[in-house]
Amino acid sequence: MRLPALFFALILGACSVGETNNLTGTDEGAREIAPILTTADARDTLTFARPEIARVTHVALDLDADFASRRFAGTATLDIQAAPNATEIILDTNGLEIETVTDAGGQALRHALGPVDELRGRALTVQLPSAPAGEAAARRIAIRYKSATNAEALQWLTPAQTAGGNHPYLFSQGQAILNRSWIPTQDSPGIRQTWEARITAPEPLKVVMSGERLTPEGEPAGEGKRAYRFRMTHPVAPYLVAIAIGDIAFRELGPRTGVWTEPAMLDRAAAELADTERMMETAERLFGPYRWGRYDVIVLPPSFPYGGMENPTLTFLTPTFIAGDKSLVGLVAHELAHSWSGNLVTNATWPDGWLNEGVTSYFENRIMEALYGPGRAGQEAALSWADMESAFAEVGRDSPATRLRGEVGDPDAAAPSGIAYDKGAVFLRTIERIVGRERFDRWLRSYFDRHAFQPMTSSLFLADLRANLVQGDSALERRLQLDRWVFQPGLPDNVARPDPAAFAAVDRARAGTALASIPYARWTTAEKLRFINSLPRELPAARLAALDTTFGLTQSGNSEVLFAWLQLALANRYQPAVPAAERFLTAMGRRKFVAPLFETLVGEGDWGRPIAERIHARTRGSYHPVTQSAVDRIMRGEA
Ligand code: BES
Ligand code: ZN
Repeated sequence: MRLPALFFALILGACSVGETNNLTGTDEGAREIAPILTTADARDTLTFARPEIARVTHVALDLDADFASRRFAGTATLDIQAAPNATEIILDTNGLEIETVTDAGGQALRHALGPVDELRGRALTVQLPSAPAGEAAARRIAIRYKSATNAEALQWLTPAQTAGGNHPYLFSQGQAILNRSWIPTQDSPGIRQTWEARITAPEPLKVVMSGERLTPEGEPAGEGKRAYRFRMTHPVAPYLVAIAIGDIAFRELGPRTGVWTEPAMLDRAAAELADTERMMETAERLFGPYRWGRYDVIVLPPSFPYGGMENPTLTFLTPTFIAGDKSLVGLVAHELAHSWSGNLVTNATWPDGWLNEGVTSYFENRIMEALYGPGRAGQEAALSWADMESAFAEVGRDSPATRLRGEVGDPDAAAPSGIAYDKGAVFLRTIERIVGRERFDRWLRSYFDRHAFQPMTSSLFLADLRANLVQGDSALERRLQLDRWVFQPGLPDNVARPDPAAFAAVDRARAGTALASIPYARWTTAEKLRFINSLPRELPAARLAALDTTFGLTQSGNSEVLFAWLQLALANRYQPAVPAAERFLTAMGRRKFVAPLFETLVGEGDWGRPIAERIHARTRGSYHPVTQSAVDRIMRGEA
């Protein structure tokens, strides 16, 4: 569609609350261009970009992965929509070495890197090429660059850090503002972009990305390399571009699903993920069609810093979710649910992160209920409630930090919180209880339809609820207390509480005294976690030893159970747990486990700090930058 310059002048000047600014494409007929929200609450303070003047609509990467120097090198070609009077575009970069910036014809363009901002990186301001005659707004620029050896999104692993031990490995983690360390673009979740990529890597490594694979086997690229091409034809938030390169193999799990991982991990990973296709079908029955084509997952080396990351078409997973009994696949349900809440409808800015994580945590629990029954789902919801209560206990119920729409300093430094995730899920459960499941589900499904491939804010979310669910029913409006839920601290009094009987078996066992009579081995993972986490926080060594020998806690092959136990044991300076803690902290780098264990050790002063320092010296280099900086902060006493 061609739009006259006057149209842009009007729309750029006149956007008000709730309106969108759709800088529609001129030369890419088929390419979908997502609108930008221009309301004050949709302004992203973590980007240098000024999308209302000029915005990226499409990114084409042509990069070589150089394992020797640990750098990407190549070009990013950006399609830009600019207001007619725009003279420059501002991009986000972090640590990138910019070599040249040119227009589509190869003519050099003036550009400048701004000062280094500790959090946001450096703005790259590029003078826009003049628009082709008659084309009001479309421009294209090409940036030749290299990523830094210590790019925050990337972890380059040595062969020794992989299961196979013979080949190096690379993976990325873009959320929240890390992708600017390997892609020069406008790195803001409200500025959606389509993308394509051609990546070269040394044989026999394979490349996978969070989009459609165009060259399953790769193509010869000379010098012992192969090239792999990908594309994403839906506009996505830039934090969702992801890559992994390694000696990886694929196994089908169902018609639309499969798993990538190192060959040595394939059997165990595939067995744990056997329900993935059914999970997809369940999710679709609940909240509408899966719009991304395939849903594959990759089980990464253990240094992956998160439990999971919802990269479109290719969820990234920690191997620590493999327990052998599918008891931790709630994680997979969670990342799958992000295919709706997060990837389809995306928080416009990080302070609205609950729109991604809270809605997803609710959706996750609905998948778990439909697939594994209300018993298991109820227990998991009760654990999530306890996480929320711990968050309240930590900062105080009245603290502004307990608002759903919150402030964020560094969105990558804060651990996933009991507020965005768990209070967020409880909010949706509360609405569901008040209006009834059928009506709520109809609304949520239609919400995903109405806002597919678009950014979302807290106020837009509430406006949609009011327009399409409340519909002027003032009694219902009063009962829901929507604004209180989203903008105020603490919990409104209409809150839907978890089933008090969810952990009846654990509560009964705790009332007894003899450990040997507790049917621990028969319990679900949620029950085991509830049991360990509700033990008195101060225990003598003899009691810890009895617990350990009776239930085999140090030996647990379930990472969540082992973590809960180590936290309790180390907080009591229980020496026999130290070797197991050291093994665990050496074997994996998941921040959710690593950071709290270091924190506990450091908190145990004379006893724990030397242990923490010894382990830190040995393990630091094997962690991803996300985990590394979290642990560094703890060791410096800043956490
Ligand atoms: N999107 C998040 C991971 C994330 C959050 C990365 C914030 C960077 C900043 C992912 O979906 C997630 O929530 N992962 C959780 C698992 C979930 C079951 C709570 C995790 O990694 O533990
Ligand atoms: Zn999530």
